[in-house]
This record gives sequence, structure tokens and C-alpha cells, in this order.
Amino acid sequence: MSRNSPSKTIFNNESSGLFKPRQLGLKELMPALQNKIYFNYGGQGPIPNPALESIFRSWEKIQELGPFTNKVWPYIANEIIETKKDLSKICGVEHSRIALTENVTSGCVYPLWGLPFKKGERILISDCEHPGVVAACKEIALRKELNIDILKVRQLRRGIENSQETEFEVIQALKNSLHKNTKLVVISHVLWNTGQLIPISVISNTLKKHPSKPYLLVDAAQSFGQIPIAQACQNSDIYAFTGHKWACGPEGLGGVVLSDRIILESKPTLIGWRSLQKEVSIYEEGITQFHTDGRRFEVATSCIPLLSGLRCSLKLLNEEDSVSQRLIKIQKLSRYLWDGLNEMKNVKTVLNGAPPCGLVSFHLLNQEADNKLVSDLGKQDIWIRILEDPAWLRACVHVTTNQSEISELIRAIGQIV
Ligand SMILES: Cc1ncc(COP(=O)(O)O)c(C=O)c1O
Repeated sequence: MSRNSPSKTIFNNESSGLFKPRQLGLKELMPALQNKIYFNYGGQGPIPNPALESIFRSWEKIQELGPFTNKVWPYIANEIIETKKDLSKICGVEHSRIALTENVTSGCVYPLWGLPFKKGERILISDCEHPGVVAACKEIALRKELNIDILKVRQLRRGIENSQETEFEVIQALKNSLHKNTKLVVISHVLWNTGQLIPISVISNTLKKHPSKPYLLVDAAQSFGQIPIAQACQNSDIYAFTGHKWACGPEGLGGVVLSDRIILESKPTLIGWRSLQKEVSIYEEGITQFHTDGRRFEVATSCIPLLSGLRCSLKLLNEEDSVSQRLIKIQKLSRYLWDGLNEMKNVKTVLNGAPPCGLVSFHLLNQEADNKLVSDLGKQDIWIRILEDPAWLRACVHVTTNQSEISELIRAIGQIV
């Protein structure tokens, strides 16, 4: 594999994947993948050149039409609506139920803070959530005098072949942890640390039968762009995602799918002009009228050129294959990696069976050497990461991963440990 820097300049229209019929595969279109072996898709996905180019062109267009003129507003409105329409196809919901955000965390916390909690109510949060979301739940519990319960899913270590058993265990754990006044359940669609896939629709069905009808907040950081998500979006109250991981879009753009009852019952919290139905007469007495759709959770000026970048990355991913076919490929690759790691004496994989998607977590038997392994691999330009808590190693495979890269990773680990 070539580890040289890409020779093409990204803004050269002649080399643009958008202007010419595509000849290069997705991997070849990604400058980040030309000079390293990359396994940190769950941290940040590499952006293909055509997406970078379309961001630049959108920025140019805004300068040409505006940046602040009457001519630019229809362009901006169209960019937003086109992006929401693309997202609505992936999420299987009407585009009016989507709010554009900057990242996963804002998609989780903006609607979270607006929920109508009453003193003494409870939040049930899984023990595999990202620190920002956990901190937000802890803080809201403190300020609104709520209680936090923990849903134990970290110990679920079965692989894809035993997904039925995993599903059963998740539901058992859920039923055992729900109280009669649980108002919110927080869980990720794909757990960022174990790599386990969580059955969101089954959880949702259980919650609908529960007397307090808890809201379901799903962190989709590791699912959007990687696995089919429409069913989960349709069954969640808050389904928050970002474009910059598995969708290989630019950082700084994400979104959240909101259920009808969230739109009705959660009040905007980070309030700005974009949340408002009208900006005129705002000083008049009376209740401020917020949008009655996803826009009530949008705030103010944001980076419009990123929208065309994300649309382009999603289109290129789709041209590779449908999301279900991509997942099958990812599963084959993660099984290959998981098998290879299991053949090594000094390595322990976190899951006891082949992973359900592209996240493969493991650690060395001597866990103190994990950090050094990451930096030693980095010296060979092979990039995996160490997670914070639990401090496991994680290598992610995507449709742009080659089997030969996985063999190279396994060989390098074998050599180092
Ligand atoms: C499960 C999960 N949630 C949230 C985040 C934070 O993402 P963002 O910075 O887009 O809010 C991450 C990032 O790694 C994540 O893996």
C-alpha cells in the first residue's frame, strides 16, 4: 500500500470527482487514507476529496451571492432543505422532525434540557455512555432534583451470533432498572466502548408499555453512516448523530431526530433567532412563538458550506453500496480482525464473539502496556486509539478498510507485544 501523500490538489476542478465520472474508489478519494493505515473511524472519519471540494465551492457561492445580500438567502434556505431531505431518507422520518446541530452532544443535550422533569423523577442511563452526555444528565439531575439510575450493559459481551440472547439480556436489565417514575432512558445505538449493538426498537416497545412512558434518548455517534438506522430513529424520542464519524463528513455538522412528543413537550433551551417563528415584534408582550418542528432546537448562524460536504460524503458512501450491504462488508472485516486478535496470546478481545459492526475493542493482558502499543503503532503510521474509561484499545473498520491493512495491524501488534 502506498504511504505517500496524495498528489492531487483538492481544489483542482480537473481532478474533481464531481466534475468527471468517478474512476477512483472511495478509499482513493480520501487524502487521509493515502499515507497511513487508519482504524479511528469511530473517532473521526476521513473526508473524501469531492466533499472537501464541494464545501469550498459552497463557500465560494456564498461569497459570490452575498455573503449578506438578499440574493444569498434562497441559496442558504435550499442548502438546509436539501440536507434535511437527504437526512430524512436515511432516518426514515419527515424532514420537519430533524434539527441540524454541530455534533452528537448538542443533539442530545439541547432537547434533554427542555424536558418537563418534575422533582424526584428518575433518569436511567447506560453504563456505556460518552462522558459529555453523562455529565449533562448528572448536572440536570442536580439542578432539577432528579435521581440517576444506571443500566448495566457493559458486561454484555456476546458477539453477533448471539444477538438474540443480547437482546433478551438488555430487556431484562432494562425491566430490572426501571422505576415507576423513570422519565428518561439514555443509551447508545452502538456502544462506543464494547462495540455492542443495542436493540433500540425493542427498548422503545418496552418503554411504551411502562406506566411513566419514559422518553428514549439515543446517542447515534457510532451508528449514523455505519448501520441502518431508520427503525431506531422512528422509535426514539431523541436520536442524535454527527456527520464527522462513520458518514465521513466534515466536523461541525450533526443532527437530531425528534419525536412528535419531544417537539410538543420539550422547550427550546439554547434559544436563538433560528428557533423563532418570527423575529419581528419580539418585544411585544406575550409568549415567544418557537417553531413547532425540529427548528425549535436550532440556534443561530452556522457553517452552511459544511452541508454540501456532508451530502457529498453520504452520496459517495451510497455509491459504494447500500447501507445494509456496507454493514455486511464491515462485519466481515471486523470478524477478520477479531479472529486475528484472538489468535494472539497476549491479547484479549472485549467481545466474546465476532462484533456486530465495525468497532473492535481489546486490551493487552498486561494492560499497562496499552498506551505504549498505541504510540508504537503510530510510529509505523498505523492508528488505533485507547479509550478513556474503561481504558481499552479500539480499532474500527469501515468499507474503506482493506483486509491487507488488518493483516498489517495484526502483524505489527504481534511484533510489538
Ligand atoms: C458514543 C459517543 N457519543 C458522543 C460522542 C461525542 O461526539 P461529538 O463530539 O460529535 O458530540 C462520541 C465521540 O467519540 C461518541 O463516541
